[in-house]
Parts: sequence; structure tokens; C-alpha cells
Amino acid sequence: MPPQVTRVLLPDNTITTADSNSYFLWVRHLNEKKELFHATNGKPTFPLPAHIPQAMIKYWSQAASTLEPIMYGDPQGEFQYRKKIADGFSKEYQLDGVFQAEDIAFTLGGTGAIHSIFYAINTLYPGKKMVTTLPYYPSYSLYKKESKIFLNKSKHFRYINLLKYGNLTLNNEALKDFLQTIKKWDIAAFLFCDPNNPNGTTPGKEEWQKIAETLKKYPTVPIIIDEAYCEMVFDQPHVSLVTAAPELLDRIIIMRSATKGLSAAGERMAVVLSKNQKIIGLISKYVSAFNINIPISLQYAYAETISQIQSTDYIKLANFYKEKIEYMKSKLAELDILPKDIIYQPNSTFYLIADLSQLKGKIIEAKAKEILVDNQTGKIETDIDIVYHFLFKHKLAIAPLCFFGVDQKRCWVRITCADPIDILDKIALILKDELGPTQKQGAYVNNNKKQTSKEIKG
Ligand SMILES: Cc1ncc(COP(=O)(O)O)c(C=O)c1O
Repeated sequence: MPPQVTRVLLPDNTITTADSNSYFLWVRHLNEKKELFHATNGKPTFPLPAHIPQAMIKYWSQAASTLEPIMYGDPQGEFQYRKKIADGFSKEYQLDGVFQAEDIAFTLGGTGAIHSIFYAINTLYPGKKMVTTLPYYPSYSLYKKESKIFLNKSKHFRYINLLKYGNLTLNNEALKDFLQTIKKWDIAAFLFCDPNNPNGTTPGKEEWQKIAETLKKYPTVPIIIDEAYCEMVFDQPHVSLVTAAPELLDRIIIMRSATKGLSAAGERMAVVLSKNQKIIGLISKYVSAFNINIPISLQYAYAETISQIQSTDYIKLANFYKEKIEYMKSKLAELDILPKDIIYQPNSTFYLIADLSQLKGKIIEAKAKEILVDNQTGKIETDIDIVYHFLFKHKLAIAPLCFFGVDQKRCWVRITCADPIDILDKIALILKDELGPTQKQGAYVNNNKKQTSKEIKG
């Protein structure tokens, strides 16, 4: 059986694992020479809310007028800004007054939030496993590799493989069935990405309420919800698990970030909300160790924005991305490359999944072939082959779903649809050009009922 871990040549001629880091190095290298179509990363394109620069101007104008030194801050965040965030989010979750300043910890972006939560969970429940869905956001596993706190990813994560259950939206049936395969005492935490990256799906109120009934059978297990995209749900407001089932509040740990919903990726503004003071204490310990404190100007700007932004602003943002997703979805449908034999109803985020298994057997572009050191045939066999082929032949960067734990032989990719329609059109044309007028049908038997060993490993 070919290894799931394939290797690639880097721009500096060293050989390394074909993962998101090495792919990013190539994307960056090529971008230096020629404009690329960037459809690989999370890429907010909706205008920045004016509240952020306005708060920054106010903060720094005040500093300019006094020139007072800026002291170290509280690793958890400044009390008054935590209070403002707590009030703003309590309102947003329709749980007026429920979050207090003590329930909030500022972190360096959502990534910092996730990794500090993992640190807290790993400290409280060493050796136990985190249950999450597959496909999963790659940064969940990056933490383990980089920090060495989690030494072996398969030891620390157990995956609910949504492909096996025939539905790319988290659902109670899949969760219940999966839970029969793991001992209750072995679960450190549940981790749900809602809306989901890469699937672009959200369970919604009714399904969350069903899921909550299942989670109640695990009354001591923390529930982490990564809501990096919660402002980007189409047609209706996002319903969080905490709103659908507030009785679970004491166990819920929420991550919120300004990256996507406030179009401020580079400013690294995020918070964790939790009623569990042990968790908040450990998150502050993590921040203290790695960052000392989060920049105070950013805490101020984030708190001001959350206290002023309106639900109508989020509707505009969601409509902006919905138009792009609907447009691109129709293009992928025309090309017959939406995932088949599986329920796939993207209704949030700016990502779409495409099944490019029709490309199997095509000759790989010559330069890409040089980089794909494990490819013996010179023909497309995996999603890694596909993304390097597109990168070198068409200067199009898309993400292979093996980065998200999916078997690379499925040849599924994630396309970020955040660009203007004319660019999306160009991306669709590139796909059409590669697929050709007569598309091969069934090049890969998409047996969704079967979980492959590679997907189990994630
Ligand atoms: C699911 C998910 N969680 C968290 C993050 C991290 O966001 P941030 O940019 O705030 O670090 C991302 C970013 O892409 C994401 O996709």
C-alpha cells in the first residue's frame, strides 16, 4: 500500500513531507515570480468594518497625546476589554449577561486560541483523546507536531469520519455511531468546527439539539467549538451549540476570531470563552509563557468592534460570500465535480470541495513531476499530484483534502471562493481545460460507506 505521507522537493532542493507547510513554501516561491490564483488559504475579501481602524486611531491618538509608557498587561487580557467582549458575545448568543469578564481570555488569533485550549485539555486530561470530525482543520494537528506537547497525533485524536457516514455535515447519527467505538473514560474533549472548514457546513439548531442529547451522556467531557466562521452562514443567522443547548454552557469552550468574520486576518485578534475557570487559567498560563500578553491596542479594538457591530453587518458579509459560493457551485456542478454519493450542502464559509478524481491517469506537468519525488508513473494518482500539477501548469493554488485527513487517492480538493466573479470564472476555466470536453466517469470508485485505513489514521 502506498504511504499516505508522500514527499516533495522544496525550492531549496531538500526533500520533505508533502504537507501544508511545504505546499505553502512552493506557493510563496512561485508568487515571487508570477501572479498566482490564490484559492488555497482562508482569505477574507469583505471590507474591514470601520470600527477596527476607528478604535485603533482613538487608542493611538490618546497614546500620542500623553506619550505614557505602555506597561505589560494581564496575560488573560485587560479587565475592561474582557468585560466588553463578554457583554457583546452574551448578547450575540442570546444569553444576556451570561458571560462575565472572568470567562474571557484573549489569545493571539484563533490559532493561538486553539493551541492554548489544546494545552489546557492536555494538561487536565493527559493521555486521553480528543474527538473531532474528519475532514478536519489542519492546524489541529500542526500543534502536535510543532509543540511536541502532543507527541503522536493518532494517539491524541479520534476522528468521526463524516465520509463514512455519507454526510459532510456533522450529525447526531454519525456521532452516536462513532461513540460506540471509543471508551467513555478515554475521551478528553469533543472538538467541533462550526461552521466547518473545509466542508462549509453547519448543523443548525435542530441537529445541535439532537447532538446535545448525545453529549449529555458524557457529562464531564468538555466541548470545544471552533466558531472561526460563525459570521459567514448564509440565509439565516448561525445557531451555536451554546444557544441551541444552553444547559451545556458549563462544559462549552468557544473560540472566536476576527480573522474571517471581521476581515482582519493579519491582526491576530481572538478570544476564548469558557465558564470553566481552570481552562481559562491554563489558557492564560499558555499566553503568559508564549506571548506574555496579547497587544493591548488589539484587545481594545476587538472589544470595541464586538460591542458595536450589528447583526445586519454580518448579514451583508454572509451575502457577499454566498454569492461567490453559489456562483462557483454552479460552475462545479456544470463540470460534474461536486462530491457525489454523499450529502454535501455547503451553506457557510467561502470554501467548496471538488472531486477531481476524473483527472487520474493524466500526465503530470513536467516541473511538478520533478517535485513529486514519490510519483513513479508521471501520471496523476493523488490529490497531491493534482495540486502541484495545477500550481505549476496554471499558477492555481488549491488545497488537497489529504491535508484535512482525507485519503489522497480520493483526489478531493478545497477551493477558496473569496475572489471576484471574474477570477472565479478564470479558475473554473482552468478546471474545465484540465477536465476536457469528454469527462471520464467513475475514474475512482467513491465508496463512501467504507472508511479507508488512511482516513482512520487521519
Ligand atoms: C477552522 C478554523 N479555526 C481557526 C482558524 C484560525 O484563525 P486565525 O486566523 O484567527 O488564527 C482558522 C483559520 O483559517 C480556521 O479555518
